[in-house]
Amino acid sequence: MGQCSVPKMRTKKEPATHSLHNGLVLNRKENFLSTYVVERQIGQGSMATVSVVRKKLTRSPLTQASGIPEDIPMNGPRRFSSFGSRGSSLNSSQCSSLSSYNPGAYTLSKSSRSRKFAMKTIYTNRINKNLVNEIRNEINVLRQLDHPNIIQLLEVYEYRKRIYLLMELCEGGPLQIKLYTEAQTCHIMGQILRALVYLHEQNIVHRDIKMENIVLENFIDEYPTVKLIDFGLSQVYTCSEKLRAVCGTIYTLAPEVITGEGYTAKVDMWATGVLMYLMISNEFPFLTNEFELQDEVKKKRFMEGKFFFQLPDLVKCVERSTDINH
Ligand SMILES: Nc1ncnc2c1ncn2[C@@H]1O[C@H](COP(=O)(O)OP(=O)(O)O)[C@@H](O)[C@H]1O
Ligand SMILES: [Mg+2]
Repeated sequence: MGQCSVPKMRTKKEPATHSLHNGLVLNRKENFLSTYVVERQIGQGSMATVSVVRKKLTRSPLTQASGIPEDIPMNGPRRFSSFGSRGSSLNSSQCSSLSSYNPGAYTLSKSSRSRKFAMKTIYTNRINKNLVNEIRNEINVLRQLDHPNIIQLLEVYEYRKRIYLLMELCEGGPLQIKLYTEAQTCHIMGQILRALVYLHEQNIVHRDIKMENIVLENFIDEYPTVKLIDFGLSQVYTCSEKLRAVCGTIYTLAPEVITGEGYTAKVDMWATGVLMYLMISNEFPFLTNEFELQDEVKKKRFMEGKFFFQLPDLVKCVERSTDINH
């Protein structure tokens, strides 16, 4: 079995080709830590640290006097109901409680306070300019997206050479390299593909589909909801022009990215195919070493599929993953 920690190839990207709107994601120029408490680190990427955070229990004089919670649940660009069964905006009964105490509203606030989020922190003075551009690209792209299988960006904080991205939390962590049943693989693949259809319909290519960039909503479900994260390398494309920047992660790189002949959004489908192979076989279908891969490309063997997996192996894998169902 191979390892997941293969090196990433990040390069300068083509500039985005259209203007990106700001959606409903809040932009703040203040210290994130004055509003949120960090509980623990949940992930470490190539440039960012991701932590579990929750809102601080503070109340303004107005809310203290009125009994109204200060932290009305944040309005993300979608799925307002996910902030609590009572919704996210003030309804008439909550409005009336500006002058009288409303226990219902207070209960709602308490649950919103205990809600946890994921916070991705980037120290802009510790990374090079390309990576800073990458994070700005991620923010711009995520702002436009609204899909149940794509992570939701809620707020962006910029303060003293740090950028914080407040996102919905997926407590199950990233997709693990292990054997999944055929049914689980189908369940997860369906969600990734739906997210990609949505993305490609908007002419955005992700370019870094891999196990570490798919997170599970929780670790309890046998058939979990998964979400796509890390849009740093994503790119708006036009159908008339091929992309050329060599970027992505070795084990999911499509041949046309490596050969430099130009590529399209289909590279995301290639990478998804690699993940599906990994999930049903627990093995990498292609090379995971950058130097070996370059060697294969030089000898033109990569394009000819000379070292691709053998079909009988794949059949055995499918049988094995079906077996663990029974
Ligand atoms: N919203 C989230 N919920 C839970 N874990 C997350 C979330 N976002 C990122 N992570 C974890 O943090 C890791 C790094 O995040 P990522 O956005 O990929 O950073 P980088 O851009 O540095 O690669 C991921 O592989 C994942 O384990
Ligand atoms: Mg990542």
